Amino acid sequence: MSKESIEVYKEFETDIIPPSWKDRIWDKKDFKEWYESTVKDKKAKEEWWEKRANEIFWFKKWNKVLDDSNPPFYRWFVGGETNLAYLATDWQIAQGRKNKLALIWEGEPWDEALQQPKEVRKFTYYDIHRISNVISYALKEKLKVKKGEILTFYLPMIPELPFYMLAAQRLGAKHSIVYSGFSADALATRAIDGGARIIVTADGFYRRGRIISLKPIVDEAVKICAQNGLKIEKVIVIKRTGQDIPWNNETDVWHHEFIKDVPQNVHILVEKCGSEDFSYILYTSGTTAAPKGAQHSIGGYAVALYTTMKLIFDVREDDIYWCTADIGWVTGHSYIVYGPLMAGLTSIMYEGAPDCPGPDRWWNIIQRYGVTIFYTTPTAIRMLMKFPEELVRKYDLSTVRICHSVGEPINPEAFKWYYKNIGREDIVASSTWWMTETGQMLTGHFPGLGKIFPLKPGTNGYPIPGVTMEVLDDDGNPCKPGVRGYLAITSPWPGMLMTLYKSPQRYIDVYWSRFKGKMYFYTGDFAIKDQDGYIWVLGRADDVLKVAGHRIGTAEIESAMIKHPAVAESACVGKEDPVKGQTPFIFTVLKQGYSPSQELANELKMHLRNTIGPLVASDTTIAFVDSVPKTRSGKIMRRLLKAIIAGATLGDVSTLEDGVAVEEAKKAYESVKAALERK
Ligand code: WT7
Repeated sequence: MSKESIEVYKEFETDIIPPSWKDRIWDKKDFKEWYESTVKDKKAKEEWWEKRANEIFWFKKWNKVLDDSNPPFYRWFVGGETNLAYLATDWQIAQGRKNKLALIWEGEPWDEALQQPKEVRKFTYYDIHRISNVISYALKEKLKVKKGEILTFYLPMIPELPFYMLAAQRLGAKHSIVYSGFSADALATRAIDGGARIIVTADGFYRRGRIISLKPIVDEAVKICAQNGLKIEKVIVIKRTGQDIPWNNETDVWHHEFIKDVPQNVHILVEKCGSEDFSYILYTSGTTAAPKGAQHSIGGYAVALYTTMKLIFDVREDDIYWCTADIGWVTGHSYIVYGPLMAGLTSIMYEGAPDCPGPDRWWNIIQRYGVTIFYTTPTAIRMLMKFPEELVRKYDLSTVRICHSVGEPINPEAFKWYYKNIGREDIVASSTWWMTETGQMLTGHFPGLGKIFPLKPGTNGYPIPGVTMEVLDDDGNPCKPGVRGYLAITSPWPGMLMTLYKSPQRYIDVYWSRFKGKMYFYTGDFAIKDQDGYIWVLGRADDVLKVAGHRIGTAEIESAMIKHPAVAESACVGKEDPVKGQTPFIFTVLKQGYSPSQELANELKMHLRNTIGPLVASDTTIAFVDSVPKTRSGKIMRRLLKAIIAGATLGDVSTLEDGVAVEEAKKAYESVKAALERK
């Protein structure tokens, strides 16, 4: 990317309305020097984070800001004690927000006659406090849930999900949430790894006008767990749709029955958790087939969320905040549940699809509640920008004052559409970069700083104060401005994962061993730093796909494919997609006795749906080939496969892969090309 191709858009007009945070870093005369010091100087950096930590509630303060004596197992605010549920509810009530709306939930079904959603449920901070206490009580008294136990939640976007999360935190228990778009296999793998005893689920939910069942998937997962020696003792089922579901009297209990006899005013004394204790695990994909359980802390994580809510979202008392993610992913954990509640906000939570009943549902929601802060994904923006602009203009979106995106690179066209149509070209907008492992947003444009860092569409902006990120070459040396390298985080940050659950060695190997002799966190992303220090994340550098912003490893897909009796071998690569960013493209070699057909391709897609989940099955392409091209050392020639899908010519391919002869590359090219033409 040349400097000329990077367009400087404009300064943020919001500088006219100064940001509300009391610690007005943006007013500092020497802001740039100060900012530099927080990223370069260890002492200044720790001072900054310590100041942030002093803004939240602690039962007991820390005796050390950062323990870095055993890298990469960094521990923040060591000796401190707090609790995420306490911060999200009790502390809010103590600050006078007892009757403030914390959550406005809207179900998907739409009432055409009344032109309004069929169901809206509203909860004050006091409501959430009360309900989560009731659930805590039932978990503790009836199921003997204790501090340290990991509960597995397989739930759709209904308010009971955050309630159960808070109920677990209250007891010092932990959660492992599995996105409801995963299959029984995927759920079982995660439940087994986390040693689940209890699964919380729902009968089903609404998506794009249809009822999607969850309970049968859980039943299947329970069976798989049993076959692997794990007995799931209880399945708590929330009644969302009222559909008929299979029932097992021994294990299953309805949520409403479970809490029926609990006194509504019960109060469970909150567990004082060590800052460096863990709050949850969340599985994420990497370059091997086994998902990794990112384990997050309590104290550092809380400080990270509280700080970024203030810094990047510039939250105010009367904001209406809406993050459109699913709580099954990290964005929802951090920025639908813990972050916004800790910041005392009123949040919207929407159950369904953006285009139901029509592609203006989201704009309708923004107008109806007067949303002020909006956080969504590039895929959603690209999907919605295909419709006529009138659909957006019909609505009054003038309440929005900040809109960010997350999850995958945002192309400048999509950013400009977002900025123009949602942001009226005069608000703060950016693409905030982070990942499951980082727990918190690490980059973005901050309100108040527009004069210092003007907006550039498509960029990820700067790391926030106190966070050090570099773009490095293979040897771990910084790349020149404009040169592509690997994105690394070069020192610890408070929201960071603590380890991979039960796999400390894997934690070291996957994240901290990429740059020889340097204790840097390897993100797995390609990026560029431009002349002005802005970071531009280009996409994954490893074999991880981002399908509609959802992270999925090609190794997971390949290992699922091989379980099908017809498949001898397969190689999955990402194919560029104008809306979803990438979709899986799977080169498949069949076993003897099977021949390629559309039916078999469909069956294989169904197989993927059953083994991984609907999130990969749609838009997957299966291409049958005679062999998967490999290097002499047996590695799949992925770069070559990717290049061919992207339309590379024969002349381009010979130099693409290491350790492969020109002739072999050409042969592979011809055979793959022929398979593509047959499609
Ligand atoms: C990967 C992490 C963190 C929330 C959801 C994703 C990509 C994330 C951006 C962005 C470019 C981005 C990276 C990263 N990514 N945000 N603003 N611009 N790329 O979490 O599922 O753990 O995925 O998402 O490739 O490594 P995740």
